[in-house]
Order: sequence, then C-alpha cells, then structure tokens
Amino acid sequence: MTPIVELEDVGRVFPGSPPVAALRGVNLSIGEGEYLAIAGPSGSGKSTLLNTLGCLDRPTEGTYRLTGIDVGQLSDGKRTALRGQRIGFVFQAFHLLPYRTVLENVITGLIYNRVPRRERRKRAAEALDHVGLAARANFSPRNLSGGERQRAAMARALAAQPSLLLCDEPTGNLDSKTTESLLDLFDELVADGLTLVVVTHEELVSARADRLVKLVDGVLTEEAPG
Ligand SMILES: Nc1ncnc2c1ncn2[C@@H]1O[C@H](COP(=O)(O)OP(=O)(O)O)[C@@H](O)[C@H]1O
Ligand SMILES: [Mg+2]
Repeated sequence: MTPIVELEDVGRVFPGSPPVAALRGVNLSIGEGEYLAIAGPSGSGKSTLLNTLGCLDRPTEGTYRLTGIDVGQLSDGKRTALRGQRIGFVFQAFHLLPYRTVLENVITGLIYNRVPRRERRKRAAEALDHVGLAARANFSPRNLSGGERQRAAMARALAAQPSLLLCDEPTGNLDSKTTESLLDLFDELVADGLTLVVVTHEELVSARADRLVKLVDGVLTEEAPG
C-alpha cells in the first residue's frame, strides 16, 4: 500500500545571512492510520516539518509525496486543493477568529474543501459535536477555556474529514485532565482510520503514539519502539 506521507532526503533552508538549515536529509514514511509523535528541542525544525507535511511550506531539497503525489511539482492552486481535501491542521496558537462564533470558525475549515455551501453549517455542527463542543457553538472563542479553544481548533481541522491530521504542540497549554481527554479523542480518531502526526514535548503524549521520531538541528531519527 502507498504510504500517505513519503519524505525523501528533504531539506529546508531559510535564506538569510547566515541561511538556516531547518531540515536536513529527512527521510520519513508514514502509513495510513499510523499515529506518529515528533519530539525535539526548541528550534530543531518541528514546526517546519509539520508545515511541510501540511503543504504550507515547500522543501528546498528532496521530495515530498502525499498519497503518492509529488507535492513539489504542483502549482500553488493544486497544492491548496490537495491540502483542503486531505489535511487538517491544528496550529500551536489555534488561530481562531475572535469576532466569529465557534461554529463560524469551524465553517472556515470547509472553505477549501468541496463541501457545498448549504451543507457547511451541518458538517461544522457535526464536527463540534464530535469533539464535545456542541453547547459552545454560538460562543465567541474569547469566552472559551484553553481546552475548549483546543477542541474548537480540532473541530475546524476535522470538519473537512481529512485523512491526515497534523497538530503542533496541542497540549502545550492544557492542564493534565484536559490533556487526557484530548488524548482520548486522538485514540478515537486513530481507531476510526485517521493518520495522526503530533508535535509534542510531553512524554505523556508521545507514549500513546505508535511511533516516535526526534529532531535535533533539523536531523530526524526514529526511536526504537518500546
Ligand atoms: N520563516 C522562517 N525564516 C527564517 N528562519 C526560520 C523560519 N521559520 C523557522 N526558522 C528557523 O528554522 C529553525 C527551526 O524552526 P522551527 O521549525 O520553528 O523549530 P521548532 O518548531 O522545533 O521550535 C529555527 O532556527 C528557526 O529560527
Ligand atoms: Mg514549533
């Protein structure tokens, strides 16, 4: 079976003086339905790797194939379309729009997808229900707790029913009880067939994943299972 993600000798150099090699010679293959954690010190390239996987950034060296499609060869428009169909992204800072309701924020997750306009509200409401946030649909994100914001961002990422979900330090600002319930939701999503990639500093989180890779100065190594 074709892996959902295949990175081959991927490098990402940010120009500047001096240039920064955020990723170096990264090889990584992720199968459908796998749950992968990415760890590493601050500045080691974790977010750059996640942005690359999410087609928000392009490698400056090497090849990225998403479901067998060479992302580097696609036009910006085609790359955006592929992202809309395939990928859900939960950013470290959530990026929720403060002057829109929670439901409207989740609807924005469907704009780059093929969901017809009239169906978006229904799909967004279902996604909120899935993450246990239906009762907050008409709230402003400003009036949500940290854990609820996290769930709203999850709902927005899940509304388009992506096959690959990417989360950047999703438990960074959560208390241990809220972290635990987010991890339960992750387990449930993976059991339903989602491929999940989570950047995390926390042992509690990486221990629940199938695989753990580490980045140090842009170089990726895989930890032996156990
Ligand atoms: N847009 C950018 N322009 C220049 N340098 C960047 C940019 N984004 C990240 N970097 C640099 O690339 C390296 C890796 O950054 P990042 O992927 O954000 O690390 P992490 O998420 O592990 O903290 C850092 O040295 C950072 O300063
Ligand atoms: Mg980061």
